[in-house]
Amino acid sequence: MGEEFRFFELNNGARIPSVGLGTWQAPPGVVGDVIIAAVKAGYRHIDCARVYENEKEIGMALKKLFEDGVVKREDLWITSKIWCWCNYPEDVPVVLEITLQDLQLDYVDLYLVHWPLAKKKDIPGFTPDCFTALDIPATWREMEKIYDSGKAHAIGVSNFSSKKLEDLLKVARVPPAINQVESHPVWNQSKLREFCQSKGIHLTAYSPLGSPGTIWIKSDVLSNPVLDMVAEKLGKTLGQVALRWGLQMGQSVVPKSTNEARIKENFDIFDWSIPDDLFAKFSEIKQRRLIEGQFLIHELGPYKSVEELWDGEI
Ligand SMILES: NC(=O)c1ccc[n+]([C@@H]2O[C@H](COP(=O)([O-])OP(=O)(O)OC[C@H]3O[C@@H](n4cnc5c(N)ncnc54)[C@H](OP(=O)(O)O)[C@@H]3O)[C@@H](O)[C@H]2O)c1
Repeated sequence: MGEEFRFFELNNGARIPSVGLGTWQAPPGVVGDVIIAAVKAGYRHIDCARVYENEKEIGMALKKLFEDGVVKREDLWITSKIWCWCNYPEDVPVVLEITLQDLQLDYVDLYLVHWPLAKKKDIPGFTPDCFTALDIPATWREMEKIYDSGKAHAIGVSNFSSKKLEDLLKVARVPPAINQVESHPVWNQSKLREFCQSKGIHLTAYSPLGSPGTIWIKSDVLSNPVLDMVAEKLGKTLGQVALRWGLQMGQSVVPKSTNEARIKENFDIFDWSIPDDLFAKFSEIKQRRLIEGQFLIHELGPYKSVEELWDGEI
């Protein structure tokens, strides 16, 4: 049983390690040691993004791991994402080069379009009116060129609704391998999951613990009574139960921790499982999206409401 759910196979034949380390809010000065601790604990998947402003230090840690012979490049899965201030089509290859330089890599295993919108070039910084619509067909053509070049072994998207995926699939020569979205027992993405499954798109769960450390998120995943009951019965922590639920739902998970004990705890989810009778209890949990994306909503922007951003999947 220990080997079950270690990897998920993608629509291009690549195998993504099912548990990755999240790196959002893992600051420089901390993140390097965290990457080294995680890889030594068995993680083979690191979830990065240019906007997390820590890829340089992650790159230095990876270099050290390779030089010390702890892990080989081909045994690691590195994801990065292009942020919306730079996914004007012409910027896609330029920004990937910066990420590759910072990570000190020749290729990433997965490159994602981080959000389905772009930022107006003439407005500096982040103001509510700074966003504009993403040109999905043109951006995706650049992503496909990156895939063809071998600089990304898989390409995908993040925060795309079923409708936006459908629009993308109409124009894609290379279909997206992954949609990375918020998913945990309190927001199980049932509609989007069904759509992705029907199209062969793998779902990766971000904030799989409900992002309890993020001040502006009212997170209650790790205090949910169903998780509490299951954790008690199985002798596991609530975090482990949330992550194992994710694997049994068929999604990869990218929990973030900068604490060595929790990094190990979050990876200790392979040699046990949630039995069917307890798994069924998760369907009783009232569903609620925690990351609504309010910061992307503005009357002058491409999305005037949260409903529009998620095309009703809220
Ligand atoms: N594509 C996107 O738009 C997007 C959006 C959000 C996140 N992400 C990705 O997903 C990753 C994970 O999401 P997230 O960082 O929002 O939230 P998360 O992984 O759900 O939760 C992280 C928080 O939980 C704490 N924690 C970790 N393990 C724990 C455990 N076993 N028990 C209790 N608390 C625990 C961490 O604190 P300590 O560090 O102190 O352990 C941290 O405060 C991100 O780091 C990022 O890589 C992607």
